[in-house]
Amino acid sequence: MEQPILSGIQPTGKLHIGNYLGAVSNWVKLQDQYDCFFTIVDMHSLTADYKPAEKSQQILSTVIDLLASGIDPEKSTLFIQSQLPEHAELAWYFATLTPIAFLERMTQYKDKSARQKENINAGLFIYPALQAADILLYKPYGVPVGEDQLQHLELTNDIARKFNARFGKTFELIKPLLTKTPRIMSLLDPSKKMSKSLGDQHVINMSDEVKVIEKKLSRAVTDTGKSGQMSAGTKNLFTLLENFSTPDEVSFYREAFRAGNIKYSDLKGNLAKLIAHHFAPYRKKRAELEKNPDYVMQVIATGREKARAIASQTLQEVKTKMGLVI
Ligand code: TRP
Repeated sequence: MEQPILSGIQPTGKLHIGNYLGAVSNWVKLQDQYDCFFTIVDMHSLTADYKPAEKSQQILSTVIDLLASGIDPEKSTLFIQSQLPEHAELAWYFATLTPIAFLERMTQYKDKSARQKENINAGLFIYPALQAADILLYKPYGVPVGEDQLQHLELTNDIARKFNARFGKTFELIKPLLTKTPRIMSLLDPSKKMSKSLGDQHVINMSDEVKVIEKKLSRAVTDTGKSGQMSAGTKNLFTLLENFSTPDEVSFYREAFRAGNIKYSDLKGNLAKLIAHHFAPYRKKRAELEKNPDYVMQVIATGREKARAIASQTLQEVKTKMGLVI
């Protein structure tokens, strides 16, 4: 306890079950072990295509989703990245220490540039320097992330090392806190990670009602179940079953798959009910929070103050060491 950890999530709209199983459910557990900082990285989200008219709603919706999922503002500091100018400022200082060659190696940058060819902006390129700033401002012990973020954490440590070597020991190296989080794939294209950017029919949102989930799952890609080889889509359904169902039910369907007589419509119907049931308390809490915007705004304001007390100190230390304080 009292060792800080920090993680971030982009506000791109409603959270889906991939976000939940991959990150948020883990954050909720970590709150009891660590002093947690969770930030909504709205500045990072500007590096992808977006509609300005929707952004503030997406930010608010993400705050509400995190609170409804069990992030407890009594235990954790929940804040919005752009409300702390310290993040952008430190990102600039870090950018001056980051070799372009390091940034060019980032697979997320390469993937995203390939996906948004019309919008390969400089922000996308220096994204990892901003992420390093998000992290190092709070001098955390560790950063809970999924595997796809490991490269960004290595770069964060590269920057920390460079800073220490040039300006004197300032940052401890951080540890990735990798959890055994399942990789949830898109329902319609199970070769891709479940992501809002693929379209609403590819994802199950935490807030989806049972009817919506049934409909989305009914269209989820599977296989004939006859070849004995499990397709990516079927694997994904089993991953979901493993997370929302009982071991007995998982064995039942595995057995049916092996025997070549699995009924996917039956599996999908069950899974829809299980998922909807799992998120019933979340939907209730979300509805309550939506009726209570004052409370939500107050959580955000408190988070900002708590984060700023630490971030401003680190930034002052950095500026002093870099020779900017006159
Ligand atoms: N890049 C992360 C992602 O895509 C989001 C992120 C930004 C982050 N800043 C962070 C994660 C700091 C952990 C710590 O998921």
